[in-house]
Amino acid sequence: MSQHLTVVQHPLIQHKLTIMRCSDTSTAVFRQLLREISQLLAYEMTRDLPMTSTVIDTPVAEMEAPTLAGRKLALISILRAGNGLLDGMLDLIPSARVGFVGLYRDEETLKPVQYYFKVPAALDKRVVIAVDPMLATGNSSAAAVDLLKEAGAKDIRFLCLLAAPEGVARMKEAHPDVPVVTAALDERLNELGYIVPGLGDAGDRMFGTK
Ligand code: URA
Repeated sequence: MSQHLTVVQHPLIQHKLTIMRCSDTSTAVFRQLLREISQLLAYEMTRDLPMTSTVIDTPVAEMEAPTLAGRKLALISILRAGNGLLDGMLDLIPSARVGFVGLYRDEETLKPVQYYFKVPAALDKRVVIAVDPMLATGNSSAAAVDLLKEAGAKDIRFLCLLAAPEGVARMKEAHPDVPVVTAALDERLNELGYIVPGLGDAGDRMFGTK
């Protein structure tokens, strides 16, 4: 992917996102729409995957047919809200390998601290897609990408549902080599770190917590 930020302006995505933003949308509908949008975003994100070909027999003739080249993709969920995007992406790319990164914010330093990290082997040979629905301050996303790079990942992409300009700028500054794909670029962050207009706390809305 050549651009740093891609906002996928697809009517189906935009319509589904509008329903997700509404505060009276149920947990079940929110979860289902996130699953559907993640497939559409993943479709866009994987547009330039490397291809090779293989000779196959159709019932009619032999042909040289296109297939994906190289190792299976690695999908990395940034806990916990990343799991909502992961499910839909696995519908589309069922053979992908899956990893998890858990980070919390230290209340004193305000810096992200790792509490869980488990990723597929040979990360350096895979296209790695990190997923987190909300790119807000960008601090945890940038820290997650730091960890993936330390683990050897070279081709990293970042997929989110909503992005704030602050988060996009932070990612561009920390990781200019990591393209970001999102369904919408919202206005700003508020004083509590929520994306405005946003959709609230994505984790709470998909898991029904408060
Ligand atoms: N995380 C969320 O879940 N929502 C926001 O608006 C910002 C960060």
